[in-house]
Amino acid sequence: MEYYLQVKQLHMFCAYLSAGLFIARLLLDMAGKPGWRQSPARYLPHINDSLLLTLAFTLLAIGPWQPFVHQWLGFKILLLLGYIAFGIGALKPSLAAPTRTVCALLALAQLGGIFYLARFKPVLFSLS
Ligand code: HEM
Repeated sequence: MEYYLQVKQLHMFCAYLSAGLFIARLLLDMAGKPGWRQSPARYLPHINDSLLLTLAFTLLAIGPWQPFVHQWLGFKILLLLGYIAFGIGALKPSLAAPTRTVCALLALAQLGGIFYLARFKPVLFSLS
């Protein structure tokens, strides 16, 4: 647990950066500027997201949290899978604009859910 707080702060920094980079790419596409795909903005989010997930699993390894015990964490991981899938759809140029818009809205809703679960850690079902 020695470095837990520092790892959590880095995880949070990467989380906010990940959200910012995703929204920035959506806005660039909406503004008709798909050229970010030929710039570092194409691979920087992948590096950041890899770091985000590495830090997340480090938190699991050194902290008290378990996905099958703490509901917020289990659901956070489920929402993460949805966020990844719909996030890919939202940024795929080959998909039709309405499909990408729906994907973007679903991805953003799930991202909001991830931040909510991480921050407030609600008990979703009472199992007793
Ligand atoms: C897009 C992906 C993710 C985002 C945006 C995100 C965001 C956050 C944020 C903002 C916090 C700090 C909450 C607070 O105390 O205010 C946090 C904490 C945490 N996250 Fe994530 N996270 C993500 C993925 C993951 C994944 C995949 C895991 C587990 C495999 C995970 C495990 C944790 C743990 C264990 C904490 C520490 C909880 C605590 O000590 O209070 N996160 N996350």
